[in-house]
Amino acid sequence: MSMYRSLNLVMLGPPGSGKGTQAKFLSERYRIPHVSTGDMLREEVRNRTTLGLKAKEIMDQGGLVSDEIVSAMILKRLDQEDCARGVILDGYPRTVEQAHVLDGILAELGRALERVILVDVPDEEIVRRLGGRRSCPKCGKVYHLIYSPPADGVHCDVCGIELVQRDDDKEEVIRQRLIQYHEKTQPLVELYEQRGLLVEIDGSQDMEAVTAAIVDAIGASADQ
Ligand code: AP5
Repeated sequence: MSMYRSLNLVMLGPPGSGKGTQAKFLSERYRIPHVSTGDMLREEVRNRTTLGLKAKEIMDQGGLVSDEIVSAMILKRLDQEDCARGVILDGYPRTVEQAHVLDGILAELGRALERVILVDVPDEEIVRRLGGRRSCPKCGKVYHLIYSPPADGVHCDVCGIELVQRDDDKEEVIRQRLIQYHEKTQPLVELYEQRGLLVEIDGSQDMEAVTAAIVDAIGASADQ
């Protein structure tokens, strides 16, 4: 980390590819905040805010919340003190429009993206991953019933509370989220590739191997 004045990363990839899981590891390793628009929106839903109620309807159908809403959230979040040394963006940007807004926000802050990490996983594996995902309603820790199960198979290891399944992890909603990804988010792969920022990681490896590949790519970028 010391070789960077600030480290600004984007995690890109289909739903369930492991972006959130990896972002949490990276956040600890580089000591920069993990900023997930999905988590921020779910927090609004939990707090039953007007924005949350509007967003829930869209999220439960696998659609995308409006660019204006998520970009306003990100603008506010990136301006906070703890993001000064960098940030790991997870789930944002998700459309070409959002990518342009992000360019503007970063330019205003006098910063730029160092790397865009594409965690890629084939669609068939996505359905298996998301079907087994469970999370703690209290601390948000994410598990997988087969790949990273809680000790007793049912409760959060940290809080002891029964784990829950996300409302949008039903098979028909997952399929819709995949359609949205291919249609609206995949164009960003090319956009960032053209800018020379993209690193493509095989997300179908086990979690440790994925982390190692990402850390390697971030480290290597410092030498360029
Ligand atoms: P969001 O929360 O961003 O969902 P997503 O992109 O669909 O991503 P997920 O959180 O489902 O998956 P992930 O890649 O983080 O995988 P995870 O690490 O959990 O967005 C939700 C909704 O909010 C959107 O549909 C949209 O409506 C709205 N929204 C959010 N941002 C928006 C934006 N910018 N614009 C508009 N709308 C927006 O891993 C998945 C599972 O696999 C877990 O169980 C995990 O334990 C397991 N796992 C992870 N890695 C591995 C591995 N290597 N091997 C085996 N299992 C693994």
